[in-house]
This record gives sequence, structure tokens and C-alpha cells, in this order.
Amino acid sequence: MSDPLKLGLAGLGTVGISALQRLLAKENTLAVKAGRTIKVKAITARSRNKDRGVDLSQFQWFDDPVAMAKSPDIDVFVELIGGDSGPAEEAVRTALMAGKHVVTANKALLAKHGNELARLAEENNVSLNFEAAVAGGIPVIKSMRESLASNEISRVYGILNGTCNYILTKMEDEGLSFDACLSEAQRLGYAEADPTFDIEGYDTAHKLAILTSIAFGSEIEANSIFVEGITSITQTDISAADDLGFRIKLLGVAMKTDTGIEQRVHPTMVPKESAIAQISDVTNAVAIEGDAVGSITLSGPGAGGDATASAVIADIVDIARGLQIIPLGRATEALEPYERARMRAHEGGYYIRLRVTDKPGVFASIAKRMAEQAISLESIVQKKPRHKSDPKSAVSANRDMPQDLVLITYMTTEKAVRAAIEAIEKDGHIVAPPQVIRIERL
Ligand code: NDP
Ligand code: HSE
Repeated sequence: MSDPLKLGLAGLGTVGISALQRLLAKENTLAVKAGRTIKVKAITARSRNKDRGVDLSQFQWFDDPVAMAKSPDIDVFVELIGGDSGPAEEAVRTALMAGKHVVTANKALLAKHGNELARLAEENNVSLNFEAAVAGGIPVIKSMRESLASNEISRVYGILNGTCNYILTKMEDEGLSFDACLSEAQRLGYAEADPTFDIEGYDTAHKLAILTSIAFGSEIEANSIFVEGITSITQTDISAADDLGFRIKLLGVAMKTDTGIEQRVHPTMVPKESAIAQISDVTNAVAIEGDAVGSITLSGPGAGGDATASAVIADIVDIARGLQIIPLGRATEALEPYERARMRAHEGGYYIRLRVTDKPGVFASIAKRMAEQAISLESIVQKKPRHKSDPKSAVSANRDMPQDLVLITYMTTEKAVRAAIEAIEKDGHIVAPPQVIRIERL
């Protein structure tokens, strides 16, 4: 057997501790599979004295991840700290420049600095592996970058955030409040250190940016993504979706269009009978459409310590086996500059919920504004006001109080919908910000 592969593990939180426990528990099996022993040599975290339920005395402790990244005692720097700058960024750069392989689960870092870090890895002839950064335990990076290498990919989309899918599932199935569901997702270790990243859609956007680059051979470009989170979704929307044959999911979608690459993240109405609508709780799913394989959907746990550690360790085993794959699936100098398709050109169906004053002529005035933008309506329903359980939408049953109008459009453009809503707002009939949810026919 070759020499042991020596690891420095930075971050001993939800993912770090699961990875450490698994590496210790599976040491013999992994050695057989990799052809050499994999040994954790050094560790670092913020607090040295925290009880983490594991005896850490056998490992060399570093207060500073950057010092560990250049230690001659490690071959691989495993970054499980998080954050798109600060110690994680500095330590990853240091490790690559010192000729160490890097394994990371940090999608925020890759979304911001991925092009440059991939270039650094290439220049220093080391691996930069990040399977865990997208969709937790699902092997989507390997599948797209390696197994589907001969395919021309036209669209990749999916549920990429476990926290949001967990929240939407619990709101739908158990009628629980948004805040209660978020607290539970945090308790279970699914959410980011700052959960705003989850619920406002940024975490999905970070993952989508990585998938887009590998799918289309373009530079990672996270700043051009249209992003909407799930914080405005109410029980009224969930029940209206149910009545209309849809479920609401936070989707990340990247596709080639005539004007460039469309990247968008937003709550989406998906038909109840579609495969993606069946994905519940913390489960993620990624659908990839390629010219040779047609459509492939991968699903599995998108967050949580053990599932994510599974992907981290797979990346480490690749390095132990001597398998070195170029990070973004092609040399960084061969990546195309990112060409952005404008969101206003997006075409699709829309769910629009308007809280209106219940007066004669309002209905007709809204229909007229839609017609002016050549928007054809598939249905228009007046929803009974909801009570108690939905504080965001609670109104009394009094006849003079506002009512919810739910409109479903046929195919139209984002530009037309925005113009119609602007005109409706100016008419003064609506008493709360309109709710717009895009419909994806899958
Ligand atoms: P946690 O917040 O649970 O853990 C972060 C760890 O980093 C802690 O051990 C913390 O130390 C340590 N840390 C923070 N700052 C420093 C520093 N300056 N120097 C050294 N160590 C530091 O995060 P997670 O384990 O949840 O996430 C880690 C990474 O994995 C993130 O990039 C995240 O996005 C990603 N990820 C997480 C998933 C999940 O389900 N949780 C799934 C997929 C990816 P201390 O414990 O002492 O505070
Ligand atoms: N916070 C992320 C999620 C972790 O909920 O999906 C996995 O990347």
C-alpha cells in the first residue's frame, strides 16, 4: 500500500464532525477501496474547548486555518468552515498555492471565487473537489462533469435547498407557520449559519451558478441570477396552488435560450403529478436534460451532516486513488464568457394573487389591464379570505374587507406581466403587494 493520505480538517460543525466521525469509523473500508489509508492529521475550528462528542486529542490542533493550510504535515485541506470570504477563502487559496489538494462543501465561496480557485488548482496541478457543495449527498457534480461528458446540456433545474423544501413541505402538509418550520430546519442542521441565504434563495443561486458552469461550459456567474426567495409565500398561496393542481417549490433553473443563458431562482408552481412535485422535506432533486440521454433526475438528501459528509469523503477517496479531474470539467481558459439572457424575456405561465377592494368594476379593470398586455387568462378565481392560521393573509369575513383574486395566465412574458401589474397598482384597486409565482410546465 502507498503512504497514507494526510488530511487537515477545517471546521468541526454539522458537516465537519460528521465527516470526522465517518472517516474514523470507516478507516479500514476506505483504505481497501482507496488502496491507501486516509488519516486525519490536523484539525481547526473557532473554539478549541467546545465539547464535540469526539476525542480530538490525537489530532494536531491549529488555531488558524491558514497556518494549517500550508502545514507540511497535510496533503489535503478539507474546508468545512463556510463563507465566501475570510478564513475559508484565505485558507483555500493558501492550500492550493502550497500544492495541497482541496475538498470543500462551500458553494458560497465557489459561486464568488470559483473561476479563480479552479485556475489556481490547475496552475498548481492539484484537485479542487466540491461534490458536497451542490445538493448535499447527491453525486450531481460527478454525474454532470464526468458521466455526461459527451452530452450537450440544454437545461438543468431542480430543488437545490433542503431548508426551503423542508419549510414548504411542512407548511403544506402540516399547516405550520413559516417561522416554526425554519426553526426546526435550523435545529436539524440543514440551514446555513445565516438562514437568510436559504430562505431568500441565495444558497440555491450559489449552487445553480456552479451547475450552470459545468452544464454549459461557461464561467461561473452568480451575480446575473434572477433571485426570489420563499419568505412571501403564505398559506393562502399554498392552498390556492393545491386547488389549482400545483405545489409550490423553490426551483433553480438554468437553460440555454436564443439570447443567452437564463439563470433564475424563484418559488415555482409545479404540476402536482410532476416528478419534482413529489420531492419532499430536506430532499433535493436535480434534472439534467442532455442530447444523448434525454432527461435524468437525481434525487436524495440535500443537507445534513451525514449526507454531506458522504460527498466530502467521496471527494477525498478520489484524491487517495490518484484520480484528478479538472474542477469545472474543462480548462478555465476554455470556459466561455457568461452571456446573460434578460429575465424580462422569460416566457411562461404565471400565478398572480391580488388583494383587492371588493367593489364593482375591479374585476373588469384588472382583466382590461391584462388584455392590454396581450395576456390571456386561463382562470380567475375569487378566494375566500383566510383566518387565524395565516397571519400574513388573515382578514375578517366582513363583506367590505379586501378579497384575494387569483389569476392563472397562459404563456406570456415576464415583461408583459410586470407591465400589467404596474398598471393595476396605479389603478389603486389593490391593497397589498401583489404575489407573482411563475409556473413551470415540466
Ligand atoms: P457549521 O456552522 O455547523 O460549522 C462551521 C465550522 O467552522 C464550526 O466548527 C466553526 O467552529 C468553524 N469555524 C468558523 N469560523 C472559523 C474560523 N475562523 N477558523 C476555524 N474554524 C472556524 O457549518 P456547517 O457544518 O453546516 O457547514 C460547513 C460548510 O458546509 C458550509 O460551507 C456550508 O455551506 C456547507 N454545507 C453545509 C450543509 C449542511 O447541511 N449543514 C450541506 C452542504 C454544504 P466552532 O464550531 O468552534 O464554532
Ligand atoms: N443550507 C443548505 C440547504 C445546506 O438547506 O440546502 C445544503 O447545502
